Amino acid sequence: MSDTDLLPILLVPDARLRAKARPVGPGDAEAVRALAPRMLATMYKAPGIGLAAPQIGELLRLVVIDLQPEDQPQPYVMVNPEIVAASTGLAAREEGCLSLPNQYAEVTRPAEVKVRWQDLDGSRREMQADGLLATCIQHEIDHLNGVLFVDHISALKRNMLLRKLAKELKGRQRDGE
Ligand code: NI
Repeated sequence: MSDTDLLPILLVPDARLRAKARPVGPGDAEAVRALAPRMLATMYKAPGIGLAAPQIGELLRLVVIDLQPEDQPQPYVMVNPEIVAASTGLAAREEGCLSLPNQYAEVTRPAEVKVRWQDLDGSRREMQADGLLATCIQHEIDHLNGVLFVDHISALKRNMLLRKLAKELKGRQRDGE
């Protein structure tokens, strides 16, 4: 995968990050098959552990995830992912997002989730996830609904973080990055 395959990642406050993505249908199969490897390449390069299609401007229910355990690639491509069950037990974990570079906050979510999705061949898949994977899946599915991790923290913390982000992005612009 060459750098020309990389996709630009949208940053907050781009309005497309707040839109609800539509389900992937049979007519999207070819586009999604072309998009998924480019999204994975973009995510690895960033680097990140998850990327949702709205973050690259495609309002489709498609996410890619790879926690790269022990630096070994283990990519998930999830088409139309859905949380079908969530534990009552919660877990707090520090989250970041490629659309809010260098901003982090502790977010509390269900510790375990059951997720259903389709793979690139249209086969139905299901998985029970916990730990970092559970957090990542919930974070990425949030993106498909226009929700960002900062929506899960207090308004005070969110405003501080968004101000810091705006300042940083302004600085980048000024430095011609
Ligand atoms: Ni994100």
